[in-house]
Amino acid sequence: MIPQPVQDLGYAKALRPLLFRSHGGDPERVHEAMIAGLARIAGKPSWLAAATKLLGSPSEPVEFAGLSFRGPVGLAAGMDKNAVAAKTWAAMGFGFAELGTVTALGQPGNEQPRLFRLPASHALINRMGFNNLGAQAVAASLAEQGIWRGNRAAGIPLGLSLGKSKVVPVAAAVDDYLASMRALAPHADYLAVNVSSPNTPGLRDLQDRSLLAELLTALTQLAAQNAAADGSPSLPILVKVAPDLTQSALDDVLGVCHDTGAAGLIATNTTLSRALIDPADGALAEQAGGLSGDPLRARALKVVRYLSANQELPVIGVGGIASPGDALAMLDAGAKAVQLYTGFIYHGTALVSGINRAHAERATTHSAESSHA
Ligand code: FNR
Repeated sequence: MIPQPVQDLGYAKALRPLLFRSHGGDPERVHEAMIAGLARIAGKPSWLAAATKLLGSPSEPVEFAGLSFRGPVGLAAGMDKNAVAAKTWAAMGFGFAELGTVTALGQPGNEQPRLFRLPASHALINRMGFNNLGAQAVAASLAEQGIWRGNRAAGIPLGLSLGKSKVVPVAAAVDDYLASMRALAPHADYLAVNVSSPNTPGLRDLQDRSLLAELLTALTQLAAQNAAADGSPSLPILVKVAPDLTQSALDDVLGVCHDTGAAGLIATNTTLSRALIDPADGALAEQAGGLSGDPLRARALKVVRYLSANQELPVIGVGGIASPGDALAMLDAGAKAVQLYTGFIYHGTALVSGINRAHAERATTHSAESSHA
């Protein structure tokens, strides 16, 4: 494995400047090129093995929602929208990966440009709008890659994030999510119900108590039916929430999750707030869309702490994690695991290995302390 300080320096001083300047500096084109490159590696087992040797990092497993994750750091949704690079994330040290968001109907997403870097704030603003090939096409690709629920063909558990198709009205959202679930459940170790992206009109309304109850009831019932039919455990369904919800709205979400048998929460998605942006990025702050990265960190942490405080459902913490210390703070706030998006763009694989190491060291210290107690 390349030592972490070398990975860190190599990324910050060489790879990141190169990546950020390539493709005319267009973040979306850089992203597309990176994912296409990873998809090529994913198809070549010897390249994958080499990447694992160079970048993979030892990690301590974490368990929740009936699943065993290879480590505490997951890839956040939105990076691998069509699941084409599913087999490469384990090689970079991730303990699980959430693919998508996928919608029942394939769709182009919003007009470009729709992804912006705020370099002084180590942040991004995006209004991608769920650009993806659609649930049937993504399911076919996963089948072709040999990825099925529980078979660990990607080396780690894979979640699939489901969203609402743009042309489908909120009133018909339940059937739309069910169609995605039917297509993708055979390939997923868990499902994430994305009701929190700010970039699909009306989507966040699905966090309201009655709509969310209707949606989660339908999805958990389908999971139970599938489980009864094939004798497997029910597919865990997690709910991803926005950081902009009030405390009483979070209480509503928690209540519905308990009532419907959701398996956990993912907190948080991007924010509509523009607080804490570095003045040097001021002009970009006016771009519409969801803000992620450093300015989101404190808010996401607060939501995770609140959600974890008085209830038992596991929470995955995501938002602004840019150092091992940030990840440990999320875990201390009650998260069972964390996910990265923007921090991975700004800090690369060294961030993943750094968190894995910090988590493993802490687990060793804890077990040494408890054996001395
Ligand atoms: C996202 N995010 C996201 N979330 C989701 O549930 N489905 C999605 O399709 C996307 N798409 C997406 C695209 C881009 C370009 C970004 C930057 C983010 C949100 C992401 O998963 C995460 O919740 C937030 O970005 C907060 O974490 P970070 O980025 O601060 O680590």
